[in-house]
Amino acid sequence: MLPTRKLGKTSLDVTALSIGCAPLGNMPDVFQYEVAEAQALDVIRAAFASPINFLDTAASYGDGESERRIGLVVRELKGVPMGYVLATKADRDLKTNDFSGDQMKRSVERSLKLLGLDRIQLMHLHDPEWAPFDQLTAKGGALEVLLKYREQGVIQHLGLGGGPIDVMMRYVDTDAFEAIITHNRYTLLNRSAEPLLAQCVNKGIGIINAAPYGSGVLAKGPENYPRYCYQEIGGEMLERIRKMDALCKKHSVPLGAAALQFSTRDPRIHSTIVGFSKIERIQQTVDWLNWKIPAELWAELDAVGFDNEDPETNRWK
Ligand SMILES: NC(=O)c1ccc[n+]([C@@H]2O[C@H](COP(=O)([O-])OP(=O)(O)OC[C@H]3O[C@@H](n4cnc5c(N)ncnc54)[C@H](OP(=O)(O)O)[C@@H]3O)[C@@H](O)[C@H]2O)c1
Repeated sequence: MLPTRKLGKTSLDVTALSIGCAPLGNMPDVFQYEVAEAQALDVIRAAFASPINFLDTAASYGDGESERRIGLVVRELKGVPMGYVLATKADRDLKTNDFSGDQMKRSVERSLKLLGLDRIQLMHLHDPEWAPFDQLTAKGGALEVLLKYREQGVIQHLGLGGGPIDVMMRYVDTDAFEAIITHNRYTLLNRSAEPLLAQCVNKGIGIINAAPYGSGVLAKGPENYPRYCYQEIGGEMLERIRKMDALCKKHSVPLGAAALQFSTRDPRIHSTIVGFSKIERIQQTVDWLNWKIPAELWAELDAVGFDNEDPETNRWK
């Protein structure tokens, strides 16, 4: 097992790496490729035997498919193995966008059923940007329902995972959450999560940084996978990635190792979630975590430039 640390205000001990199970839910619209069930089950079995003790999924990943596949392995293993942490997320209805308190109940109950568990170690309120703050925080609304589950012990710890930083900060201000997930906003290419990180450090909230490869490009390379934050990219961003790749090559460092360690070397971040769909990724990720990176490379990569703008600026307007 990799060394563990306590995740913010929770009682959970987690490794610096977490395995993201979004691709394992078979989401070709998001990742541009299919992942068959047998392949996903092999990855999940290997994950629960790996030095990484933290797995991340969501009700919405493949609309239950990621949780269903994890649940098959959890049943084989007669539960989540001792020392491992399985986190999932409560979601809106993907077909109707219903984000009501009742929908939260349906989401949580379905997660328990699919995962084959009677309680969840860490449940995040997922992607709150899909509904107005006043709706989700109203009496009887999504947040209140999740807090009630926590009171009952069905949810051991409550977290928050989402996109736009201003939205995330507003929810963090409610002091309802013990940990947060930010994604695609603290990478070699985008640092727009800085104010959220500062806020969470100040409050002692657990910080989980997801998608260090910007959903893939910083692992697969600019020519193989020219997408950032689940959208096609070109122009200046692609140029920056090419420059970063060349700098890494000069120092014999894989671009993916630099992208991963950009997150894991930051002492504010408790765990970094990496998504993958192939069994060999587990060892590759641990190798990238331990890759020796010369100090001067960080300054050179910074000098290439990065965005402080939200990567989905136009999506929620
Ligand atoms: N709102 C939220 O809370 C939120 C949002 C986004 C993400 N997340 C979580 O964070 C996880 C990570 O995000 P992500 O999966 O979107 O993006 P990511 O981790 O930045 O990138 C995932 C992609 O990188 C590829 N990859 C990983 N390791 C590789 C390696 N060693 N060599 C080549 N390619 C490699 C994977 O490809 P292969 O399939 O080929 O392995 C996958 O396509 C998600 O799975 C999810 O659990 C949460």
